[in-house]
Amino acid sequence: MDSIERFLPDAAATDRLGSALARRLAPGSVVYLQGHLGVGKTSLARGFLRGLGVTGPVKSPTYTLIESYPVGDEQWVHHLDLYRLAGPEELEWIGLRDLLTDRGTLLIEWPERGAGQIPAADLTVVLSLEDEGRRVVLSGDLTEFLEDIES
Ligand SMILES: Nc1ncnc2c1ncn2[C@@H]1O[C@H](COP(=O)(O)OP(=O)(O)OP(=O)(O)O)[C@@H](O)[C@H]1O
Ligand SMILES: [Mg+2]
Repeated sequence: MDSIERFLPDAAATDRLGSALARRLAPGSVVYLQGHLGVGKTSLARGFLRGLGVTGPVKSPTYTLIESYPVGDEQWVHHLDLYRLAGPEELEWIGLRDLLTDRGTLLIEWPERGAGQIPAADLTVVLSLEDEGRRVVLSGDLTEFLEDIES
């Protein structure tokens, strides 16, 4: 398991990192987005979706738990926020099982709240506050990302 740490000085840097990850990550990957409230998880998810050509509004799935986006040829990205997950049955209501079979990429904020019920991460992104910006630690099998991420 590799890990890379970087400083993201402003929101635009978070956005760019999200886009860079999206361009490199295989469809169907599972990404955990971790870190305290308001640290930039949704910002990174928005950058990720922009990187895949999503131009419409990207809103936080805070209350809906999930927002799904068609990207490219019969591909989906499902953006989940499990902060308000009340219990395992809610994952059934949102159709988690179907999400796992349509080869959709999963971006999951607050994966801790779904522990034991959601698939393991291919990539974990942990954000934290640092000065006016954010520190980010990426972990997973990063071999194919290194080039983009270092640049
Ligand atoms: N690298 C950065 N430096 C400074 N500000 C940033 C950076 N990245 C994102 N932000 C800002 O931090 C705020 C984070 O909001 P965001 O909704 O993305 O957080 P979140 O982690 O998804 O929160 P929640 O846990 O409530 O879902 C936004 O105002 C965004 O512009
Ligand atoms: Mg969020």
